[in-house]
Amino acid sequence: MKSPSYHAARWAEPIITELGSEGRCGLFIEDAPDALDLMPRALRRTSAPVLPSLSEPEVFRHYLHLAQMTLGMQGVSLFGTCTMKYNAPVSEAISWRPEMAETHPLQDPETLQGSLAFIHGLDRMLRSLSGMDRFVFQAGGGADAAYTHCAVTRAWLAARGELGKRDEIITSIQSHPCNPATAATAGFKVITLTLEENGYPSLEQLKAAVSDRTAALMIGNPDDMGIYNPEIREWVDVVHRAGGLCFYDHANFNGVMGKIRARELGFDACMFMLHKTFGAPKGGNGPSVGAYGCSAELEPFLPAPLVNEENGHYRLVQPGAGASGHVREYLGNVQQVMKAYAWTLAMGADGIDEASDLSVLANNYMDHRLSTIRGLSHSHPHLTGWRMEMTRWSMETLCRETGVSVFDVQRRMTDFGIDAFWLSHEPWLVPEPFTPEAGEMWSLEEIDRWLDVLETVVAECYADPETVRTAPHRQAIRQLDQSHINDPARFATTMRAWKRKSAVIPA
Ligand SMILES: Cc1ncc(COP(=O)(O)O)c(C=O)c1O
Repeated sequence: MKSPSYHAARWAEPIITELGSEGRCGLFIEDAPDALDLMPRALRRTSAPVLPSLSEPEVFRHYLHLAQMTLGMQGVSLFGTCTMKYNAPVSEAISWRPEMAETHPLQDPETLQGSLAFIHGLDRMLRSLSGMDRFVFQAGGGADAAYTHCAVTRAWLAARGELGKRDEIITSIQSHPCNPATAATAGFKVITLTLEENGYPSLEQLKAAVSDRTAALMIGNPDDMGIYNPEIREWVDVVHRAGGLCFYDHANFNGVMGKIRARELGFDACMFMLHKTFGAPKGGNGPSVGAYGCSAELEPFLPAPLVNEENGHYRLVQPGAGASGHVREYLGNVQQVMKAYAWTLAMGADGIDEASDLSVLANNYMDHRLSTIRGLSHSHPHLTGWRMEMTRWSMETLCRETGVSVFDVQRRMTDFGIDAFWLSHEPWLVPEPFTPEAGEMWSLEEIDRWLDVLETVVAECYADPETVRTAPHRQAIRQLDQSHINDPARFATTMRAWKRKSAVIPA
């Protein structure tokens, strides 16, 4: 078999609160009588917290064992729409230095000149990649940056006396769900356009949707299917003619880095995700940053403070009266901005351009091999144009012929030490969807290893579907019983979830 042999560690060990023994201690914290005096009497504990008593090596071993049980499958991760990147340990090491880790957002900006220099430096580099006039890094992720746009739009409308009059935001069904969600959170009505034969909504649909109530268009390009809209320039013109703003959700930027600039397409604002495209850690290794950039016209409405430079000296500029206010505290996750700055500087303009070329090559290589695997199909198979980054695929045929679902295949791949692939954002327009993305950081052997494993699992689906359906078999634990997930009496994290599951309100 071409696929790697793998088995996760399995430690039969109690949970941490059951480990250790009374009186054992890993860390001695000095009494801090002054601090106690500062604490109002009513807030002080009356009894000691119930914490496990362990030595430092015991704690270390416990978490090491947990990591051995869970991290083995973090091998090759062709996780679409997330653009997995190499996260250089040198950036991590710099972020631990006291000059970074021990700064306080309210300290005198004179003592923060280094941090302000790289915030300003990344702002300038993203301006040149997008054509925008100013970037801010306050948002704690992509969805937060989409929300920033809604907040800026509100402030812009208020300044023009149009708040409440222009109350509609237009998006498409395959833009990331954070676009409609943040628009609704910010109080806008959402108009969602549907996909047509060519894989994106028609210009006619857009023309029918715009009106004097249009506040903005919020759209991803490529969308979640991985399809680019070749008419996007005309879309921007249609929305501008109706008096609205255009926001480009540029989270999936990898395939066009250095090739297209959002401002040149006419967009008023865009967002990049530092934890996707710009080398800062993604997901569980967060925290993340959504870089929000806009035109000079929208700059007065940005959440502040902004970082300005004069003769090599940096200062924080506070908001004007009409600004949108904070979307997050202070300057956001500054350490992530530093990591993205280091990545961008190290790559240089040529490196970024080359990374984009490599990622398109890698994705098309991956797509080509996927098209040779039985039971898999491309979304919109009649479209022959290149998908530059991730591509939406489907296991519909495989599922029909074998009874094995995309979830089963996903779980079985982890048995070979391969990170589970990404399925699809909601709604699922393609049955049994999955969305791989190779990107520029994986070697040919690594991409082949991932594809070999998928090929092996698909062959198993036809030869021995039960093995796939009952996977995983080589993880620390077997398949979890999820039957209680929809039972409100056993699993509901919020009152709203409880009501939905109890069918008190519709799903
Ligand atoms: C196109 C797109 N926009 C926005 C987001 C939201 O980003 P975040 O998860 O950082 O909030 C994602 C997340 O994957 C995305 O793919």
